[in-house]
This record gives sequence, C-alpha cells and structure tokens, in this order.
Amino acid sequence: MFDFQYYAPTRVVFGRGAERRTGQLLQELGVKRVLIHYGGGGAVKSGLLDRVAASLDQEGIIHTSLGGVVPNPRLSKVREGAALAREFGAELILAVGGGSVIDSSKAIGYAVAEPEYDVWELYDRRRTPKACLPVACVLTIAAAGSEMSNSSVITNQDTGEKRGYRNDLCRLKLAVMNPELTVTLPPYQTAAGCTDVLMHTLERYFTQGGNMELTDQIAESLLRTVMKNALILRDNPADYDARAEVMWASSLSHNDLTGLGADGMDFVSHGLEHELGGMFDVTHGAGLSAVWPSWARYVYRDCLPRFVKFARNVMNVEPGASDEETALRGIAALEDFFRSIHMPVTLRELGVEPTEEQILAMAASCAKGAGGKKGTAKLLYQADMAEIYRMAL
Ligand code: NZQ
Ligand code: ZN
Repeated sequence: MFDFQYYAPTRVVFGRGAERRTGQLLQELGVKRVLIHYGGGGAVKSGLLDRVAASLDQEGIIHTSLGGVVPNPRLSKVREGAALAREFGAELILAVGGGSVIDSSKAIGYAVAEPEYDVWELYDRRRTPKACLPVACVLTIAAAGSEMSNSSVITNQDTGEKRGYRNDLCRLKLAVMNPELTVTLPPYQTAAGCTDVLMHTLERYFTQGGNMELTDQIAESLLRTVMKNALILRDNPADYDARAEVMWASSLSHNDLTGLGADGMDFVSHGLEHELGGMFDVTHGAGLSAVWPSWARYVYRDCLPRFVKFARNVMNVEPGASDEETALRGIAALEDFFRSIHMPVTLRELGVEPTEEQILAMAASCAKGAGGKKGTAKLLYQADMAEIYRMAL
C-alpha cells in the first residue's frame, strides 16, 4: 500500500426530509447571510427551493438567490454569482441541485474569496488559491460526487474549454442529502448519474501498483452495489432504498475513499469526456460510458492484473483461456451493463459524430489540460487520445 492522506471534512446529513433542517445546520455553522444557487428551475417547480428558504427564514438567516446554472456550468454564471455574492455580503454559497450547481458554487466561492484575479486562472492552471468562501449543498442528483470531492468543473463559454480544478479549499462544509429528492429525475439522468458514480471508482481502480486489500474490496463492493441498484431504479424509479444506496455511493465514490493506497488515479476517460462536454455539451455520465469501452480495450494489456481482477470480482465473469480473454470478457460485461441501463457505448450512440479535425482538436486540448500526458492504467499522449476517440466512433 502506498502512503496517502485522507481528508473528508464534509458534514453529511442524510435521509428523508433532511432539507428541512438546512437552516438549523447552517445556523450551527454560524452563518448569517447566504447566497442560494440553483439550476434550471426543477428545484423551484418541485417546491424544494421554498422549503429550503423557509428553513433558513426560521433561523433568521438572510438569503438571496441566483438560478440558471446549466449542466456543464458556465464561467459567465460564476462571474454573475460572484458579483452578486460580493454585493450581498454572502458568507456561504448554498447549492441546491446537482454537480453543476455545486461546481458553480465552488467557483463562486473561490472568486469571492480572492477577487483580485479572474477565477478562470485557477481552471487554466495559472494560479493556486489561498481561500474559498464556505460552500454547502442540498443535493438533488446522485452523480458527480461534488458534495464530497475537492473538485469543480467549469466550462469557459468563450473558448469551449471544460476544465476541472482540484483543491481541498472547496470541500463542502455541509452536504444535505435526501434520496427522496432524486425521484423526480428523468430516467436518462438517473442512469447517467449511476454511470458517473461507477466511473469515479473505476478511474481509481485501474492502476499499476499497490497491494490494497481493504480499499479494493470497498471499491468492488461499491461498484457491485451501484450496478445492482441502477437496475432496480431502471425498473422502479421510486424505490427509496435504491435511491439511498446510489446517493451514498455517489459521495463515497469521489471522496477518495475507493482509491486510498493506490499509485495515483487514471481519469483519462474523464479527460476525454470533458472535451466532449466542452465541444458538444453532452451529459457527463453518458459521455463517460461512450468512451470507456474504447479506452479499456486500448489500455487493458498494460494493466492486465487489474482488468482480470475487475472481470472476476466485479463483473463475475467466467475466466477465459487466457488472462487477456478474461479481461476482455470483463470489459464486454460492463459494456453490456451500460447498454442495459440505456447508456451509450459509442460516440454515435451518444449523438455526436466528430470529424477528424474535431477529434484532433479534442485530443490536443485533452493532452494540454493534462500537461501533455495522463493515465495510470497506461500513460497516454495526444496521439493515443485521438485513437481512442476514433475507436469510440
Ligand atoms: O438544473 P435542474 O433543473 O436541476 O436540472 C438538472 C440538470 O438538467 C437535472 N436535475 C438535477 N436534479 C434533479 C433534476 N431533475 C429532476 N429532478 C431532480 N431532483 O439533472 C440535470 C443534470 O444535473 P447536473 O447537476 O448537471 O448533474 P450532475 O450532478 O451529473 O453534474 C454534472 C456536472 O458535474 C461535473 C460534470 O463534468 C458536469 O459538468 N463533474 C463534477 C465533479 C466534481 N465536482 O467532483 C466530478 C465529475 O466527474 C464531473 O466531472
Ligand atoms: Zn465524473
């Protein structure tokens, strides 16, 4: 097992009706002025925003709000939110929504704490922040894991770049998680969310070194649990226990727990997807399932023991005549699973058909964003990334 640090400072309050306690929980943090940030109106229509606002009112917490965050959240909205938060004197940004709203809130947090530079400089790797305004959330979708991650992903609408930035400063103070709130999700978003949850652990699983018995068993158990419950939700979207399992998994899959002791994280599939998101505005989880099988077939020979372990312990396939065959069976089994929850496994199924010029542009941008190379299963360069996009067509 390699050395590691584990930092998971977020207070999680989980369960039915949890959002009604938001005001009391923020009051315990000593917060008096809050910017409530939300997305496309789903939280308004469902009455969630009113319930959250009422719980803040009850505790005498003054609040203002800003909606309009879109999936693949935009830098322009971050700037608008930062200006409002400063003018209002917000002490905390409360995200009511999913990963997009939380990420926009984290970016606003950075921008408000250090107004002397443009926040995009963080995502562009030109600067390291020293502060971030506190952020909390009422989560409405199990997917990105942003509620416990140190990451935020923002799209610069002027350049088409979608970039993630990781720093512990943005980790949430509080995550309020009521699985009931996710029942209104369209089936496609539920499935894309489950895919993203799986991917955050898979990106940590395919590494070269480390003898991680406990971490691996946590990771494998999480993967099996999410797959099982994704199928339950496909057939019965209102199943509370399945919603709860998937929601808790979303947090644990991206708070680093499932990779502790490994020699790094792969995250090439994420890098490839972020380019698709920046260029074609696709749904994150669906973009991941569209590239993962091609990535896996491109790299599996260089990470064979882990692919065999995955095939046996997670996908439960019969061993083939060789390790290579067993690994390929495991990849095909996960591909079949994605199909079974109606997720795309090619770019065409995702609804995009990039030209060769667009493939080269995405590969160049992906490599640039990663400092030239990326990957723990196999170290990949720009030409490899372009080849995976071609395989995924
Ligand atoms: O805006 P509303 O109206 O809420 O609509 C959203 C949105 O259209 C809708 N939705 C959310 N909760 C709902 C609901 N609709 C009905 N009922 C509910 N309860 O679902 C759509 C997707 O929401 P979004 O927040 O975009 O989903 P997700 O949580 O998947 O976040 C995706 C974003 O997070 C980034 C992705 O790249 C993408 O930009 N990621 C962030 C990470 C992080 N910060 O750690 C890690 C991830 O790997 C990922 O990259
Ligand atoms: Zn993701």
